Amino acid sequence: MQPDLTEWQQYQREIGVIHEKLNKKQDAYTGWVDWPLRVPPELLTEILETAEEIRRQCTALVVIGIGGSYLGAKACIELLQSPFYNEYYAGRQKRPRIYFAGHHLSAIYYDELLDRLADEEVCLCVISKSGTTLEPSIAFELLRSYLWQRYGIKEAAKRIYAITDAEKGALRAEAHEQGYKTFAVPDDVGGRYSVLTPVGLLPIAVAGIDIKAMLKGAAMACKMYDNADLYSNVCYQYGLLRNLLQRQGKVIEIFEVYEGRLRYFTEWLKQLFGESECKDGKGIIPMSMQMSTDLHSMGQLLQDGRQIFFETVLTIETISRDLPLTGSAYAGTVSSMHQLNQIVEAGARKAHLKNDTPNIRLTVRELSAESFGYMVYFFEKACAVSCYLTGVNPFDQPGVEAYKSNIKAALRNKQSVRQ
Ligand code: PA5
Repeated sequence: MQPDLTEWQQYQREIGVIHEKLNKKQDAYTGWVDWPLRVPPELLTEILETAEEIRRQCTALVVIGIGGSYLGAKACIELLQSPFYNEYYAGRQKRPRIYFAGHHLSAIYYDELLDRLADEEVCLCVISKSGTTLEPSIAFELLRSYLWQRYGIKEAAKRIYAITDAEKGALRAEAHEQGYKTFAVPDDVGGRYSVLTPVGLLPIAVAGIDIKAMLKGAAMACKMYDNADLYSNVCYQYGLLRNLLQRQGKVIEIFEVYEGRLRYFTEWLKQLFGESECKDGKGIIPMSMQMSTDLHSMGQLLQDGRQIFFETVLTIETISRDLPLTGSAYAGTVSSMHQLNQIVEAGARKAHLKNDTPNIRLTVRELSAESFGYMVYFFEKACAVSCYLTGVNPFDQPGVEAYKSNIKAALRNKQSVRQ
């Protein structure tokens, strides 16, 4: 897709306006734009000290939150810690196992979680900006009662860490009353843009991931993409490209990964783009696929289905642990498993390109805390640009609010029936 010069100049003008708007933080909840450059060092020290305290106190940390209040930390821990972290590496590294809660209402899960916690020393990290969201509130009530029974109210309070609004909300009030250690979600940063604030930083630090390196990566991206020039700003190019594809009827973006550790990163991406852009009947629907798994279940759709989508493949250039394929039937042609994975990706790309399926390929150098921070910032900014080009506000979520208020109303009705 090659826009002509006048078209390009038009895009450059639009991008210039958006760049200004973001830099001047004209809309509410744009504090994330320069956050990596202004994280208070004393906040980082406090987070690191608290992470250390949590490590000393417990063998299992339950992180309670939903949507933007948990997906970033989950994505980061899955990316940078082993899939066998809880069952094996946590013990070896003398770090708490990390469990997530508050992102659903599965009674079976919570019942099993309570069984699982019986053999552990437990701390809770409850995260909710509003402090009133139903699912984390219910999970917190349940787990807090469990802590009260096991440790007594006073000792339990020392094991509860709350991340919420600086002043407002039920969680802030309770934390104040009970004396929980707290961190504030910055006022000007919304849920899905908050992983680089205490919301993500505390649980990520507990898992032993270098949060300073993570913020360094984000700061690098922040500086690199603070540039209105469309020719050199890859982040803006990606935001624009998505938009142009949408105008051509490509209304679904499929995020594809060939490294399983990126799976939850694509969940984070789905929330970021879905909640930011899909409103007023507009926006690109984000989906995700993990390869090779989904090549054998959704590959047919990609190759031969309705061509209303484009693919965005996230790849990693070098990985720290590769396996030689000595002794394998492929050993003569392919030297390692990572190389084989790259060959599979190239094969799938070639097949799909034959169909003219647009294929965007974004590569990070390696799996590291620094590159995680970099990717987070890259996608946050690209998403904001894409939303403005689509003509929607990237920072509200009226659809989610509608569901939340329906639930509140339904529960109020039930209560009044009971009274
Ligand atoms: O991005 C968002 O704003 C939402 O996904 C919220 O993060 C999510 O609804 C949780 O809200 P809260 O942190 O207020 O419990």
